[in-house]
Amino acid sequence: MRDIGKLKEEAIRALRGAADAEALEGVRVKYLGRKGELTGLLRALKDLPVAERKRIGPAANVLRRELESLVDSKKAELGGNEGNRVHLDVTKPGEKLRRGHLHPLTRIDKDIRDIFRSMNFSVVEGPEVETAYYNFDALNIPPDHPARDMWDTLWLQSNQKNSKFEIRNSKFLNKSQQLLLRTHTSPVQVRYMETHEPPFQIVVPGRVFRYEATDASHEINFYQLEGLMVGEDVSLANFKFVVEEFFRKLFGKGLEFRFRPGYFPFVEPGLEVDIKLTRDQRQTTNDSRQSSVVSRQSDWLEVMGAGMVHRNVFDAVHYNPDAVHGFAFGMGIDRLAMIKYKVPDIRLFYNGDLRFIRQF
Ligand code: PHE
Repeated sequence: MRDIGKLKEEAIRALRGAADAEALEGVRVKYLGRKGELTGLLRALKDLPVAERKRIGPAANVLRRELESLVDSKKAELGGNEGNRVHLDVTKPGEKLRRGHLHPLTRIDKDIRDIFRSMNFSVVEGPEVETAYYNFDALNIPPDHPARDMWDTLWLQSNQKNSKFEIRNSKFLNKSQQLLLRTHTSPVQVRYMETHEPPFQIVVPGRVFRYEATDASHEINFYQLEGLMVGEDVSLANFKFVVEEFFRKLFGKGLEFRFRPGYFPFVEPGLEVDIKLTRDQRQTTNDSRQSSVVSRQSDWLEVMGAGMVHRNVFDAVHYNPDAVHGFAFGMGIDRLAMIKYKVPDIRLFYNGDLRFIRQF
């Protein structure tokens, strides 16, 4: 015969531990059911000698009532039999999770970084909020010089005390310290050269801002890629190789290039680079957005400004303009993405329409 003290201990522990109505019912059956352990013990009483029966009998009955009431209160605690039951059908098909993916601009940015890294360029970034000094002055664009109008600038006002730009009151700012949203990635040329010595070669991908009306090929913010290579004997021949290699890696073989003179204050000589698109890349759609970069009918497409770094820029960063030479270039990443993915309108990249985004 089982020891009644041990049985009690064990049964109470099992009851307390029952996590749900189902488990509780299992414990009840185990001890109080028709073939339960306590039931069995009660039934066996009749075979015991009288003295034993008188000792164990009452205790066993007390225990039975105690366990029954414990089962009842536990049942109430668990909120009844049915309400709490978990219905789990393991044969049901799972719920499909929608996977996200990279935005086309992020994808091309990644491709571009990879290509330049493979040519031993470092990838560098700079701030989107700039001072007029870095965006213009140090790039050989003096205040009041008409060349400033080449960039439609979004100026910022700041009255914040102790901001990280140490501007106390915008009224007293001189022009160079005035804040703006950078209109190109070229200021990072200056920032990098201030803190590094040649030779080096870097690219700078980043967001730039222009105060202008939007249309199929213009946005108030877009992405540029700046390139800068400086050393003792860096020449335009090096530039030509790097740029052609880059475009072939991005778009494939068989591209044609055209190098034309162009004016940018921070390069001398300055040039613009066009590429000739294949018919496929030009995408001759007949829709109403013919004005867009990609579907334009002309053969040549301007893709970047470039040139040999102007000696005034080297002066600004305290390099010796007689000892070092370098080329710089800047191109619009959005425009490259429009060609690569045949996107007719730059605004599609920014308006957040999932019907567009999900096509990539
Ligand atoms: N920063 C120029 C622009 O935004 C492009 C450029 C970069 C031109 C470097 C020459 C050299 O128009």
